[in-house]
Order: sequence, then structure tokens, then C-alpha cells
Amino acid sequence: MRRAVYPGSFDPVTLGHLDIIERSARLVDELIVGVLINNAKRPLFSVEERVQMLQEVTKGIGNVRVEAFSGLSVDFLRQCEARIMVRGLRAITDFEYELQMAQTNRVLAPDIDTLFLTTNLEYAYLSSTTVKEVAVYGGDISRFVPETVVDRIYKRVNEIMQQGKRKE
Ligand code: PNS
Repeated sequence: MRRAVYPGSFDPVTLGHLDIIERSARLVDELIVGVLINNAKRPLFSVEERVQMLQEVTKGIGNVRVEAFSGLSVDFLRQCEARIMVRGLRAITDFEYELQMAQTNRVLAPDIDTLFLTTNLEYAYLSSTTVKEVAVYGGDISRFVPETVVDRIYKRVNEIMQQGKRKE
């Protein structure tokens, strides 16, 4: 069985992520979307919420499952018995970071290869960070993220802004 893992933060999932999920799922028998539990970062959504949102938006794709993980991505791949790590490449700005990560991973786990899919041009500019920023300023994020997560993002951003005001 050809199994791949697409690791990431997915805070929140964007249409660019979904495009990579759909396309890579067609290339393998099973795709596991790995959501990183990163204690160093302060994510907008908890790992449980990120997993749930990804499950919702991928429920129509039969060979995709979503799991949380902590630690090294290559260790998670080994745990899943996968040898293909999927990553999306948006622009030249991604390249240096992605190359560094892929090469480090290759030293750590020579049996694992990184498969890069170039992001659909439609989503080449898109990132979770810009989505959050647009939402903070009340801009329209409906063209950036799956429909089912739009309101959750506005709601969470507003909650955080209200908390900030209370502290002032
Ligand atoms: O969506 P992101 O934030 O670009 O994903 C980055 C991610 C989660 C793939 C990367 O930070 C990662 O693999 N983190 C786990 C620790 C690890 O394995 N680091 C790679 C060695 S450089």
C-alpha cells in the first residue's frame, strides 16, 4: 500500500491546503494529514479544532484521514508506516525553507522522501497567516478558506480581540 503523510500546522486550513490534499490523495492509496501539536507556537485553534476542521473539509475524500502528532514529522511518518512526505510549494520564497527541511529530514530518515506539489496558481499567494490577518481587519476570507470554516475563524478572531480589549 502506498501511504503518504502531509504534515503541517493548518492553523487554519486554507483552500491551498485543500488543493494539495485533493491532488496528493489521487497519487497514493492513503493520505494521512498530520496536524502538528506545537507547544512553542500559540495557534489560533487548538489541535483538536484543527483536526476537526480538516476532517470536515476532507470527509468527501475516501482515502484521507486526519491525525494529530507531536515531535518530528519523520517519526510520525515511521509510526504511520509511510515513506512519502507531501509538502506544497507556493513560490520561490517557500523554496529555501522547504529545501532545508527536506534535506534535514532526509539525513534523519533516508528511507523517507519529500514529494513537493506546486500549489495551484489560484492559491499561490495564500497562507494561514494572511488569512488570519485579513480576518482580524474584517476583510472577506471566503475566497481563501473552505466555506465551513469561514465563520469559525471570524468568531475566534473576535473572541481574541475582545479578550485583548478587556485586558487594556
Ligand atoms: O504548515 P507548516 O507550519 O509550514 O508545517 C511545518 C511542519 C509542521 C511540517 C514542520 O514544522 C515540522 O515538520 N515540524 C515538526 C518538527 C520537525 O520534524 N522538523 C523538521 C526538521 S527541520
